[in-house]
Amino acid sequence: MDTPQQQQDRISPEAKWWVDGQRIRHKGFWFRPEFITASEAIRAHYTPLPSDIILASFPKTGTTWLKALTSSILRHSSTIHDNHDHLDNLNPHEVVPFLEIELFGENASKDITKISCPRVFNTHLPLSFLPDTVTTSGSKLIYITRHPADTFVSLWHLYKNKFGTEITIRQAFDDFCKGLVPAGPYFDHVLEFWDARDRDRVLFLTYEDLKEKPEENVKRIADFLGCKTTVEKVVKECSFENMKNTSKEREGVHWSGTKYDMFFRKGVVGDWKNHLTQEMMKELENIADLKWSESGLDL
Ligand code: A3P
Repeated sequence: MDTPQQQQDRISPEAKWWVDGQRIRHKGFWFRPEFITASEAIRAHYTPLPSDIILASFPKTGTTWLKALTSSILRHSSTIHDNHDHLDNLNPHEVVPFLEIELFGENASKDITKISCPRVFNTHLPLSFLPDTVTTSGSKLIYITRHPADTFVSLWHLYKNKFGTEITIRQAFDDFCKGLVPAGPYFDHVLEFWDARDRDRVLFLTYEDLKEKPEENVKRIADFLGCKTTVEKVVKECSFENMKNTSKEREGVHWSGTKYDMFFRKGVVGDWKNHLTQEMMKELENIADLKWSESGLDL
């Protein structure tokens, strides 16, 4: 029999529309149980190497783009030798594996010891779910985030289109505000990485900055990784239009059941204005104030 706390830390699949399977709260964050198990395996068995590159993000904040940019930077680098699969005909999710899925998930499909260096991994796990050594072993950590309103709108579209769930945007928005979304609460996720941003080997990026100044930010990533690279080539290769067109030519679906072209929807800043009211925006700002004001974080 569950204790009241355990009951509070569970959402049944029927209770909330975008809970695709049971979710449990672990260290304050909502995940499917298998991700909690995977995070424990990561903490126990993943030893970051100084050359490892870990790309972290909350879902729908620019993960796919960051994966593509990092792969492309390494590919065009004249200073780092990289012999991994590249983007030519691949979706970035095939090139950069998720720590909690392909490497340490219950149906892991890749052996971490067989991946050649520099190894690039990706995760949606909060920083507190990763081994402490990710910020002390010399490995590099890049976090990307995005304004909560656009993050929510992107997430809402993915779930609506992927699962065909019928729910009003208002109900979905209330869940987002309460943190009842995959990897949520969004605000706490971002804060954990923001608090680590001053460490030597942590780079904190925003989707909005990347959109506004792609060359400058690609250079920042390349410098952080210690790569000399052809910035213009990288920006072009990873542009929304280029990636969306390439993904359309790809057949089949990603392991998550997502069709490849569903990773590319609009790719703009400010789409929230087409879906949310000013009052909803104000609600997000109030939560940000409450959770972030002391940290100086403001997106
Ligand atoms: P929208 O739904 O607002 O269009 P993630 O990769 O974390 O799942 O984030 C997905 C969001 O990033 C989607 O936002 C998607 O369109 C956008 N995106 C994907 N690739 C991009 C790119 N190359 N440039 C800009 N935005 C991109």
